[in-house]
Amino acid sequence: MTTAVASSLAELKQKVETRQARIGIVGMGYVGLPLALLFSGERFQVTGFDIEARKVSTLNGGGSYIVRILPQSIQQAQKAGFRATADYSEIARMDAVIICVPTPLNEHHEPDLSFVTGTVESIAPYIHEGQLIVLESTTYPGTTEEVVVPLLEKGNPLGLKVARTPDAPGVHVAFSPEREDPGNDTVSRHDIPKVVGGCGPVAVELASAVYGSIFRRVVPVSSPAVAEMTKLLENIYRCVNIALVNELKQLCMRMGIDIHEVIDAAKTKPFGFHAFYPGPGLGGHCIPIDPFYLSWKAKEFDFRTRFIELAGEVNTSMPYFVIEQLAGGLNEQRKSIKGSKVLVLGLAYKRDIDDLRESPSLTIIELLREKGATVAYNDPYFPTVGRGRHYALNMTNTPLDNLGQYDAVLIVTDHTSYDYRAIVEQAQLVIDTRNATKGIDSPKIVRC
Ligand SMILES: NC(=O)c1ccc[n+]([C@@H]2O[C@H](COP(=O)([O-])OP(=O)(O)OC[C@H]3O[C@@H](n4cnc5c(N)ncnc54)[C@H](O)[C@@H]3O)[C@@H](O)[C@H]2O)c1
Repeated sequence: MTTAVASSLAELKQKVETRQARIGIVGMGYVGLPLALLFSGERFQVTGFDIEARKVSTLNGGGSYIVRILPQSIQQAQKAGFRATADYSEIARMDAVIICVPTPLNEHHEPDLSFVTGTVESIAPYIHEGQLIVLESTTYPGTTEEVVVPLLEKGNPLGLKVARTPDAPGVHVAFSPEREDPGNDTVSRHDIPKVVGGCGPVAVELASAVYGSIFRRVVPVSSPAVAEMTKLLENIYRCVNIALVNELKQLCMRMGIDIHEVIDAAKTKPFGFHAFYPGPGLGGHCIPIDPFYLSWKAKEFDFRTRFIELAGEVNTSMPYFVIEQLAGGLNEQRKSIKGSKVLVLGLAYKRDIDDLRESPSLTIIELLREKGATVAYNDPYFPTVGRGRHYALNMTNTPLDNLGQYDAVLIVTDHTSYDYRAIVEQAQLVIDTRNATKGIDSPKIVRC
């Protein structure tokens, strides 16, 4: 290692230790904002970057737009120096920059890296020697090396290169996947080990020092591609196992067996089994999307990811299965979907969160409308729902009263605030896709 590189490495490590390092987080969403608060809680100077002016002004006004993050947490961070900005020139003042922007799929189910490329192009003019740049957005193996690095090198006027060897000067680049599980309070963020893969040993060392200040354990791996693939393996594992129980649920229903009772019994095995639960379909920014990042990349290697495709097929068919079950339940009462009034309980893609991205409720509501039902919804986390990338619902939250007016109440998200016993008592018919009515005995319930 040259003396200059060694001293810039030592300087940044020293700044991390003394909490003088300035941390920039790009993308103040579900991932970036909590991460900013974690660093701020450790007394770092944190700047949050976002292109959405509304988010920047809300944060700078001491407010929050994510239900589980209280305005008080933002205000506390502000006292420790946290502020938000849309001005990329501030990147020049940062010692480390962490990118947490969306990585969705486009309409052809292919990776849409436009948020990542847009971000990297915006920060490239302001990067400096010895700075650490980390991508956290979930993506296919190769993104950091093949997309981020060339754009950083091309876009900065100083002609800075990415430092790949201990002797090389330049900017340090790494990938470290986000592993948050929204709504899961059983593991604290500090206790989730942080995987880090760098474009050189110094990048790994720096990223480990930065993350090591807020996470109890850092897991260095040999390259950004290994870290990128690690995240995909974790999500594909969930996606495939959820598809497996979704398929077995359908078989169990035909056989008159309660899949939930089976899972509860199976999970008493102290080894070799991890419980996954069936539901109305996948939701969220990760599980329904990330596996397709890998399928897309695999084609470049003339390889078909059959497990991912099969799991995708089973999981995306679940909302249609729910509609069939609803039709069956109404049929028993000599009714059809057409002309029925249906109340959908829960819009969020999972319990107790305020995130409806890719939520199966959205597909289910659209299918019900197509079939001629009059649909209302209740979700304490969404007073209204308008248009998104893949839906246009334009609906307002309906109060949870007079449930007898609906031909069916359809439980899509099992928020803990619902009183399921009271719901079953008042409703004419309950379609339960989450086993939320477990322990309630009523002929009005169809569990599916
Ligand atoms: N939400 C999760 O639970 C979760 C968990 C693990 C990984 N991830 C991954 O983390 C990444 C971010 O997800 P998220 O849920 O935080 O997304 P999000 O949509 O909540 O937040 C992303 C933020 O980035 C901002 N943004 C977009 N382009 C920008 C740009 N050029 N410059 C500055 N800001 C920009 C958006 O305005 C938004 O505020 C994704 O790749 C996702 O797959 C998410």
